[in-house]
Amino acid sequence: MNVVVMAGGSGSRLWPSSRGLFPKQFLSVASENTMLQETLARTDGLASDITVICNEEHRFIVAQQSQESKHHLTSIILEPVGRNTAPAVALSAFEALESAIDESSAPLLLIMAADHVIEDVTAFHDAVAVAKVQAESGKIVTFGIVPDSAHTGYGYIHRGDECGVGSFSVSRFVEKPDAKTAQSYLEDGGYYWNSGMFLFAADVYLAELKAFRPDIYEACEKAYLGKNRDVDFLRVDADAFKACPGESIDYAVMEKTDKAVVVPLSAGWSDVGAWSSLWDIGNKDAAGNVSSGDVLSHNTSNSYIRAEHRLVATVGLDNIVVVETNDAILVAAKDQVQDVKKIVESLKAKG
Ligand code: GDD
Ligand code: MG
Repeated sequence: MNVVVMAGGSGSRLWPSSRGLFPKQFLSVASENTMLQETLARTDGLASDITVICNEEHRFIVAQQSQESKHHLTSIILEPVGRNTAPAVALSAFEALESAIDESSAPLLLIMAADHVIEDVTAFHDAVAVAKVQAESGKIVTFGIVPDSAHTGYGYIHRGDECGVGSFSVSRFVEKPDAKTAQSYLEDGGYYWNSGMFLFAADVYLAELKAFRPDIYEACEKAYLGKNRDVDFLRVDADAFKACPGESIDYAVMEKTDKAVVVPLSAGWSDVGAWSSLWDIGNKDAAGNVSSGDVLSHNTSNSYIRAEHRLVATVGLDNIVVVETNDAILVAAKDQVQDVKKIVESLKAKG
């Protein structure tokens, strides 16, 4: 099985630690290893080939972090610009097909995000084994997480009939519904969150993409055909890729395909979308605080405090996030940390 690690996101909600030049997947946020390294370690025992696809400007970070964690990458595909996940997966699929040794069957791709936390790796591997059976029969498999809130940043999967041991057909896939719709899905009980990981045969994905978004398919095919290889790196044709529309795999394919199958995953998954996720998954002290680095707290509760360079002291806080870095400090209400991206937007607007 080929693993494709998507590592081209910007991670803006984890500002100020996550920056354009060093986004969250390359940081150590929940363990000593970086999120990319944790993702690579999660593939041990699963993968024959590992491809990382990322932005051109992060190539040395990816090469260095994978070497450090002793994972050999079969290829590092570089995107000249981010065009979201549907094109990234298409390039990975073209590459897997071209480099496949066994030409009798198309290679299976396990698509993973570089910025997730999965606590129970055995449970994850078990789910992948179930999914593999479905992918081998031409299905596009998603891994479904039982939702515990009406989160609007996720895709929602409505479970259909059982179609094999541990797998269900997908009767509906809705990417990022509005709050009211998400709430109704939560109450319905028949929905999973899309974990953002997928398993399918490379040719099946490309055929679906070609059917639903021929514009993306053609731009990626052209970009891939114009590629050049430079030792560790594969660069696609920049002009062709820049001309590709940006779209996520979720909107481009998952909402439209009738080949989708969901395998429920219960493995302590989190996509660490915002600072509050680090509080959710972190080790809490008696007052419910999660802290990292040099932190001194008094009369502080239910808070996430991260000191990267200096001592951070807090007194009399509840439900607050404090993140200190060498050049910026974030202080936020823990229930509003999704809006950290607004700060990043205004910083970008200021230039
Ligand atoms: N190579 C590459 N190029 N990777 C990318 C790009 C790109 O242009 N854009 C995003 N990625 C990577 C990110 O680094 C991340 O690892 C993954 O692809 C998913 O992208 P996100 O931008 O984080 O997607 P999302 O969180 O809004 O939504 C997706 O994940 C949710 C679960 O975390 C969707 O699949 C949702 O349906 C899902 O619920
Ligand atoms: Mg994400």
